[in-house]
Order: sequence, then C-alpha cells, then structure tokens
Amino acid sequence: MKIAVACDHIVTDRKNYLVNYLKEKGYEVIDCGTYDKERTHYAIYGKKAAEKVVSKEADLGIVLCGTGVGITASATKVAGTRTVLARDISTVAYARKHLNANILGFGGRITGVGLMENMVETFLDTKFEPTNEDLEVIKKLDSIAVTREDQFKNEHFFDEFLEKWDKGEYHD
Ligand code: RB5
Repeated sequence: MKIAVACDHIVTDRKNYLVNYLKEKGYEVIDCGTYDKERTHYAIYGKKAAEKVVSKEADLGIVLCGTGVGITASATKVAGTRTVLARDISTVAYARKHLNANILGFGGRITGVGLMENMVETFLDTKFEPTNEDLEVIKKLDSIAVTREDQFKNEHFFDEFLEKWDKGEYHD
C-alpha cells in the first residue's frame, strides 16, 4: 500500500518520524514535504498529498500541521477526498469503516507519539464496511465536490502567497 504524507514546517520532525515508522511497517511512502523547518504554509502540502490520493498515485494520505486543522482543511478542498481530522481511535475507525475516509489529519504538536501510532494503525488496518445508508451518504458527499482544473496539480497555484510570505507578510 502506498501512503502520501505531508506536513508544514511546524511538525517536520514528527512527519519524518512517521515516514520512517510507515516504511518500517512495509508501506511505500510518498513524502510530499515540507522537508525542513523553513516557514511555509500547510495549504501547499495538504493539497499535494490530497492530489496524490485523488489521482490514485497513493492509496491513502496522512497530513499533519500544528493542530491538524489547517492542513486537513486544505486537503479536504481537493475534490475526491474524504478527510478525517482526529484525536482519538474511535473517530478514525468510524471514518474508515463507514465513510471510507482516504486522508487522516492530526495535530503533530498536540498528539503524543503513541496516540499518533495507534491512530495511523487504525486508519491503515480498518476495512471499509459500509451499510447501504453509508453508501448513499458517501455518494451524496462526493457529489458536493467540484473539480477546478485551473488548480489541480498547478505548481503555480500558491505563487502569489509565496511571494508575500517571502516578503515577511505571513506570520505563524
Ligand atoms: C502554523 O502555520 C500553524 O498555524 C499550523 O501548523 C497549524 O497549527 C494550523 O492549523
């Protein structure tokens, strides 16, 4: 199974730990970055990981920023994603089993290593076992999303913001 992983600069160390953890368990990992601690924005990396999942280059995605909120919100904007922002095992299991969640998000600063490992294991091990109602709900949810071709895999989509951040207009 191939997993796309992404983070922002706040939690690069934790992402690197996660990448090694997944590799040791035999998963293939697409590390979408960020790769260092230079200030950047979670939206760039959430979008990248989500696009890997939606284009089927990866089977599932895992995204983390400080709280998990920003990068999960960014990933879920990509049509075809079903994300879960989680802080407990039950939420992760429900999201996989009933909603076929394809991206797990969590806060790298606010989640202990043990809980992170357990949530990741639950996310990767839980099978999608939908009821008929689940299937109807998922179909409806998926139909909300709209694909914008001008942004999908557009490397320049964030250029304007990156310029502003380079000028120091962005603050953590
Ligand atoms: C830093 O950009 C911080 O806002 C981010 O890591 C995250 O916590 C947002 O949800």
